Amino acid sequence: MLGNFEVEQCSFSKLRQFHERVLSFSDRFVKIHCKHCVSESISALIVIGLFLSFLSAVVCTYFHVFPIYQPAVRTYTVHESDDLVAKCNVFYGKWIPDESYPLYNASQCPFAERGFDCVVNGRRDRGYQKWRWQPKNCEIPRFNVQEILGKLHGKRIVFVGDSLSRTQWESMICLLMQGVQDKRNVHEINGNKITKRIRFLGVYFSSYNLRIDFYRSVFLVQPGPAPRHAPKRVKSTVKLDKLDDMSKEWIDSDFLIFNSGHWWTPTKLFDMGCYFQAGRSLKLGMGITSAFRTALETWVSWVESSVNRNRTRVFFRTFESSHWIGRNRNKCKVTRRPWLKTKGRDHSRISDIIIDVVKKMTTPVTVLHVTPMGAFRSDAHVGTWSDKQSVADCSHWCLPGVPDTWNEILLSMMLSKDVVTVQ
Ligand SMILES: *[C@@H]1O[C@H](CO)[C@@H](O)[C@H](O)[C@H]1NC(C)=O
Ligand SMILES: *[C@@H]1O[C@H](CO)[C@@H](O)[C@H](O)[C@H]1NC(C)=O
Repeated sequence: MLGNFEVEQCSFSKLRQFHERVLSFSDRFVKIHCKHCVSESISALIVIGLFLSFLSAVVCTYFHVFPIYQPAVRTYTVHESDDLVAKCNVFYGKWIPDESYPLYNASQCPFAERGFDCVVNGRRDRGYQKWRWQPKNCEIPRFNVQEILGKLHGKRIVFVGDSLSRTQWESMICLLMQGVQDKRNVHEINGNKITKRIRFLGVYFSSYNLRIDFYRSVFLVQPGPAPRHAPKRVKSTVKLDKLDDMSKEWIDSDFLIFNSGHWWTPTKLFDMGCYFQAGRSLKLGMGITSAFRTALETWVSWVESSVNRNRTRVFFRTFESSHWIGRNRNKCKVTRRPWLKTKGRDHSRISDIIIDVVKKMTTPVTVLHVTPMGAFRSDAHVGTWSDKQSVADCSHWCLPGVPDTWNEILLSMMLSKDVVTVQ
């Protein structure tokens, strides 16, 4: 993990400073009190040496158990790049109020689904729409829809993942429709309406010959029925070693944006009788994080063998922070303003695994590390202003909102000629 590596480095340098201080002290001590007794100074040095090794062991253990020196801002080395986006890590920064937001009106965008249009569903406060993400050391280029549409002429963009991927897909279409005069020139290719379970949606911008597709694949690998002779509690499986069978439809694309994460929970898996499978064997005892890593490795083999690196740019979005609170993390209270602190939501096991797996790949994949920025936005979830008002929702985001920021960053990266990768 990136974080751990830096923690080790950090505690090491602290340790060295400490050593140096102790050594210089002992040096003085030896000089003043023991000028002529060489043997005594040697034994004193041995004692000090033993004491120091004991101390370093204690300090090492301490930093290992309490990694408090983990820097809040982690930097990734960025390769071969000149432009602004690549010069810094855009995923570390802060939210600042900006009256020029939001970038569109969801009620006027036929592709923003009702469930995410919080205003139409009764949300009165609008402050949550007026925040701009300000990276620490650079600027996200101002959203210029005409320029972007021009550059995307003739392209095919494919989003693959869960409902958070669908939100980003909707957000991107709404953002880009701002630049289209006649909205009738934008349509779903099969005339389908957006629904939660639909597996494929494709929107075509005919004046730009641009396609923006969404494939619902919550695990990225294949779901399957329970094998014969499986224990009764097994109702279905997730085949960790087989990529979703729709994957052949993703290949012919210019940009591929993946996510997965929110379905890798006991409630969505084991409580539903869904267990892991690899080959023909059931993995009843397998934990969720190791299953997630195995599934990602299946995804890696597919990318390395099937994606044409000369044409297709690949992105993977990390875990989209949620804001469930309470002892069982099952209560949802949408705030009026963003949290001032991330309260640990800027870290996620899922994101750590994604970053770790991706950095070992030969195909360059850009990680959209949205976990830290989302961590502050306790104010931006749909709460009870969704199409299912009886159940509060602290996972999904209102549109317009946080997914627009993911897209502003994604679009700027898509249009820069260089690939930004986590090294
Ligand atoms: C958004 O559009 C709807 C429908 O056209 C309109 O009633 C509403 O006032 C608009 N909201 C804003 C903030 O402009
Ligand atoms: C990709 O481009 C490189 C260099 O331009 C070329 O050698 C290679 O054959 C290309 N690969 C494919 C799959 O087109």
